[in-house]
Amino acid sequence: MTKPHFYITTAISYANAAPHIGHAYEAIGADVMARFKQLDGYDVYFVTGTDEHGQKVEKSATLAGKKPQQFVDEIAAQFEAMCQSFNVSCDQFIRTTADFHKKACQAIWKRMEENGDIYLNKYAGWYSTRDEAFYTEDELTVLPNGKKISTGTKTEVEWMEEESYFFRLSAYTDKLLELYEKQPDFVQPVFRKNEVVSFVRQGLRDLSISRTTFGWGVPVPDASKHIMYVWVDALTNYISALGYPDANAEKFKKFWPCDVHLIGKDIMRFHAVYWPAFLMSAGIPLPKRIFGHGFLLTDGEKMSKSIGNVIAPKDLIEKYGVDQARYALMREATFGQDGDISYTLMTNRINAELANNLGNLVQRTLSMINKNCDAKVPQPGILEDVDKRLLGKAGQAMLIAVRAEFEKMQFSKAIEEFIAVSHAANLYIDEQAPWALKKTNPARMATVLYVLAEVIRNLGLIIQPFTPIAAQKILDQVAVAPSERGFSFIGEAHALKMGTSLPAPSGVFPRIVDEAAVSSSGSAKTA
Ligand code: MSP
Repeated sequence: MTKPHFYITTAISYANAAPHIGHAYEAIGADVMARFKQLDGYDVYFVTGTDEHGQKVEKSATLAGKKPQQFVDEIAAQFEAMCQSFNVSCDQFIRTTADFHKKACQAIWKRMEENGDIYLNKYAGWYSTRDEAFYTEDELTVLPNGKKISTGTKTEVEWMEEESYFFRLSAYTDKLLELYEKQPDFVQPVFRKNEVVSFVRQGLRDLSISRTTFGWGVPVPDASKHIMYVWVDALTNYISALGYPDANAEKFKKFWPCDVHLIGKDIMRFHAVYWPAFLMSAGIPLPKRIFGHGFLLTDGEKMSKSIGNVIAPKDLIEKYGVDQARYALMREATFGQDGDISYTLMTNRINAELANNLGNLVQRTLSMINKNCDAKVPQPGILEDVDKRLLGKAGQAMLIAVRAEFEKMQFSKAIEEFIAVSHAANLYIDEQAPWALKKTNPARMATVLYVLAEVIRNLGLIIQPFTPIAAQKILDQVAVAPSERGFSFIGEAHALKMGTSLPAPSGVFPRIVDEAAVSSSGSAKTA
């Protein structure tokens, strides 16, 4: 039987500065989703990478005194290393300076041109290099010093006047509105979709899509003094990664249209307006969903080097460990909204949910089995209602609830579902008191420990997308074969076999001892 397909991408990050925690957040979100789908029986393809062209990158390279290619090679390596350090299981790390990608950009350009959507004219207007975006006069604020900034993003704009190719975006206003209407899930969450719809309703202007005043980018086909607007180049990564424009590209045939482009809220317009318009023009099917996540904030503020509240990706891993860091990021913020994180919040969360709740359940149960059941899966007697209730919670019902949250990309809610099961198992252990049963009713003790081991097996399976290393340790400790770790093994049909030998247990989620977290106001420290 062929598996259903699932293609997920992140935004590709500008290769102009080192990765920060916001980039890690997005990559981990996509990874959690990719792993979930793969475990749930899908054939998954997951792409992330770096956006390496454009004026902003060129300027940063010049400032660093480096040639652009050398500069982006160094930064791309940092992004790739950051992804690896967080166990981000991407199938491809794409870089827009790769030749195959540049060819794809030229191919899509030609398709749009053949469709009559590209024409030469002169651009005169405002441009923010930081955002690589054009703004109209009414999107700007004039500062007391006379400088103009984009009202939305607070970045400075410059007047730009040069010959430019234009994309006939104005011709797509109605088609886009029809798209949002017919495919209500195309842009998510819904409040972001509403912003996009009201922007498009105002009517769209044609978009300048080439520049002649700098050189770092993909040349326009047959007009090489023009460099493509970096967003035409960057968005094309989603199809070049699959082998576009090769009509026989297996991956393109298999995985396009994309299931989810996971991006930040600041780049909705490019993905939900420009990208579908380019694709319509080029006659390429549209992605199924654009999901805009919120920003990570510290103490309610945007992370910034000058405020000193930046949490560096590697600090987080050093402090908590990879799994715990992934968990904290996915747990602390509601995916879609902005989320406040601080070391205090994260430490408390990791201790409460991973160390004291889940970790403690695993540790208590497995050490009792090790000591009292000859280190083997115990033999259960007849199950009482209380046993069945707990097993019921930890089986298919848990998977169905978690899956429903994943469909909405509500990762924190998905975590709540299985943490509630772990909590119920801890209550059960306290009530049943297997340590007391040891003397009074050893057969019942064996049943209770069997039920708990089975709950742990199910929990070990379901936590895999979030904490893959710890999940592996837990599943090893209850002797689940590597071939039996997909979600189809959740539930009673694949319950543990009594008598199976279990290895000596060892802790999976240590408690984080963090004086600062208990006493500080919660600000992140980057000592
Ligand atoms: N290069 C463009 C994207 C092109 S996609 C075809 C870009 N790059 S970026 O480096 O500025 O941002 C990459 C991603 O990180 C974006 O989705 C952005 O929203 C996200 N984040 C940047 N800062 C963030 C936070 N503080 N929090 C969460 N995500 C944030 O935009």
